[in-house]
Amino acid sequence: MRITVLGCGYLGAVHAAAMAALGHDVLGVDVDADRVGALAAGRPPFYEPGLAELLERVTREGCLRFAVAPVSEQLARAELHFITVGTPQSDDGSADLSHVEAAVEALRGALPAGSGAVVVGKSTVPVGTASRLAESLAPRGAALVWNPEFLREGRAVEDTLHPDRIVYGLPGDPVLARRGQEALDAVYAPLLAEGVPRIVTNHPTAELVKVAANSFLATKISFINAMAEVCEATGGDVVALAEALGYDERIGAAFLRAGVGFGGGCLPKDIRAFVARAEELGVREAVSFLEQVDAINRRRRDRVVALAERCLGGSPEGARVVVLGAAFKPDSDDIRDSPALEVARRLHERGARVRVCDPRALDAVRRHHRGLETVREPLAALEDADLVLLLTEWNEFVRLDPDEAADRVATPVVIDGRNALDARRWREAGWTHLGLGRPRPV
Ligand code: UGA
Repeated sequence: MRITVLGCGYLGAVHAAAMAALGHDVLGVDVDADRVGALAAGRPPFYEPGLAELLERVTREGCLRFAVAPVSEQLARAELHFITVGTPQSDDGSADLSHVEAAVEALRGALPAGSGAVVVGKSTVPVGTASRLAESLAPRGAALVWNPEFLREGRAVEDTLHPDRIVYGLPGDPVLARRGQEALDAVYAPLLAEGVPRIVTNHPTAELVKVAANSFLATKISFINAMAEVCEATGGDVVALAEALGYDERIGAAFLRAGVGFGGGCLPKDIRAFVARAEELGVREAVSFLEQVDAINRRRRDRVVALAERCLGGSPEGARVVVLGAAFKPDSDDIRDSPALEVARRLHERGARVRVCDPRALDAVRRHHRGLETVREPLAALEDADLVLLLTEWNEFVRLDPDEAADRVATPVVIDGRNALDARRWREAGWTHLGLGRPRPV
């Protein structure tokens, strides 16, 4: 099938490569010429395991090309168009839909009347958006399906090629709905043949599935972080607590890692946009718990900063602090709303000399956070440290040898902000190991 993918950021670049791998003829389109140039050369402009190899293969085989917008002629020729542009957070917390609207406008301008094209929205949008956009595409005879994406950064290729479910939100018009469903069934045929569950529903449900999933995940993390606060007040151990909860199949063990909390370009912004949309719909109370989820999450960062200050005798002024981690999670170079970087920046503002170490995200740190020193090698970063904070659990940090690490620092104190280190081994090596929500050494 001839497919265009409008927007080649994180979601679009991975999706375009994955659709080409499924055997389609794909054109990725973006307004950013540098990004298009990098992708066409097989160099993703961000780090994602497996993506460079996949891009290299499908561009060599000729199934994937990239072009700078506008590309009206190519849009007119394709049978199906994915919209994969970003929906960043506006100042008031709501989602900024300008990129989605621009993509729909480009399609409206390019598609001939009665084109029979299928437009598939994948971006995360406030409920109600799809039906509104469908109206503006109606004069072109295009069917609009909402087909949310559930990929995780660091696992994006795997998640796209082996999704745990596929959701179609179809338009109300039965003719357009049938055309949309048949086209998507053809696009995803290899995945459906493998037995990936497919849920066919309407526009609002499909939009809500995405935001409900992210809200649930955020709630799970904040729940366990709330328990961590209670553990700290009582001598409980949140790691053992989470393990015990996880054996209950109704609860499940995933997303119960207590620590410095969630960040990134999705969970924080999606729960705020959901609250903003619920307010517009007159149902704010139904999701007001998400404001608590957000508040608990923000408090994690405050508590880590406060703990660091206590470790440094009340003030970080002049202290040498090492922060292990800058990306919002391991296997990513994404620093958007990164808990690690916020803690680093706040300690720096309070007068600490902060050195940040990360395997992939240091270029972004240098571009956006000039005051922070950056060191690539963890052992070199630890030199003369008064305090170490592990805030992103990259494997190379978790596997550090605590004896070697102890030899480098001035004072062997580590705040384990992800409860990822082997506390007993680090203590045996002479460290004061401080987990979050875990009993403190006496
Ligand atoms: C999230 C969802 O997991 C995806 O399903 C969704 O498709 C994506 O958002 C999106 O909307 O595009 P992602 O932001 O890549 O994916 O990262 P997650 O793996 O969800 O992690 C989010 C944050 O939660 C990270 O900062 C991570 O460190 C933190 N986290 C995760 C915890 O603090 N504890 C946990 O137990 C799990």
